[in-house]
Amino acid sequence: MLVLDGKIAAAAVKATLLEQTQTLKAAGKRMPHLAAILVGNNGASETYVASKVKNCEETGFGSSLYRLEADVEESVLLAKIAELNKDPNCDGILVQLPLPKHIKESKVIEAIDPTKDVDGFHPVNVGRLVQGLNTFIPATPYGIILMLEHYNIETKGKNAVVIGRSNIVGRPMSILLSSNIAQGNCTVTICHSHTKNLKEVCLGADIIVAALGVPNFLTGDMIKPGAVIIDVGITRVEDTTAKKGFRIKGDVNYEEACTKASAITPVPGGVGLMTIAGLLKNTMKAYQGL
Ligand code: GUN
Repeated sequence: MLVLDGKIAAAAVKATLLEQTQTLKAAGKRMPHLAAILVGNNGASETYVASKVKNCEETGFGSSLYRLEADVEESVLLAKIAELNKDPNCDGILVQLPLPKHIKESKVIEAIDPTKDVDGFHPVNVGRLVQGLNTFIPATPYGIILMLEHYNIETKGKNAVVIGRSNIVGRPMSILLSSNIAQGNCTVTICHSHTKNLKEVCLGADIIVAALGVPNFLTGDMIKPGAVIIDVGITRVEDTTAKKGFRIKGDVNYEEACTKASAITPVPGGVGLMTIAGLLKNTMKAYQGL
């Protein structure tokens, strides 16, 4: 069984980006720049944003982190986005989700200039993705495609099952896997909380992307021998024996899945690292012009 190692695949993507930024630097050019906005102090969001900023540094990108209080008025956040939209030195804008309840997520996403929308969440970019046009692919599905590419996983003609229909992962993932691209051309089934016979659907899958956010949801008896398993789950589960008081758990029962799968992404060390690789590639794309 092959472990799809996010550290290795992400390092390959980052090495190429670093070469590109070094070439730009040698030519005296401005570096690509990512602006991240973090509202409030959700522990997981803090960690993700810090990691995004650190990875920008490692690849020679510039970055700015704007922190707003959890009770900030929506208009203040929108004004910050408007300012960054106009800033010629800012290539990509990312507002970390989720946002506090009093802020309308769709309004915030739609306020971002689609040419700076490195998350690929703006309806214009989602529409472009659906139509197979050049766009920003949301970072996690993009990272998964890059992972499949790195390990030469054949997808053409395969049955893929995506569990979860979020705008961030499940829905764009299902669109990509069904698209006429190198890591696409699958027959895709998208499953959600109302899906009947989920186990049977999964047993027909050559590729399963588990993105529902329920630890250990996908068990060995749901996996066809030889299937490729992509685990998107990153739930914090309390564990008093762990240094931080919690452990990160995937949506897949890893030990059971290992007895069936031909390839699997670990958690941590799998898809999470590829998400950042996808984001950095989008930021470079924004810099170069969509
Ligand atoms: N929250 C969870 N995943 C993501 C992501 O890919 N982008 C943003 N902005 N927020 C997230």
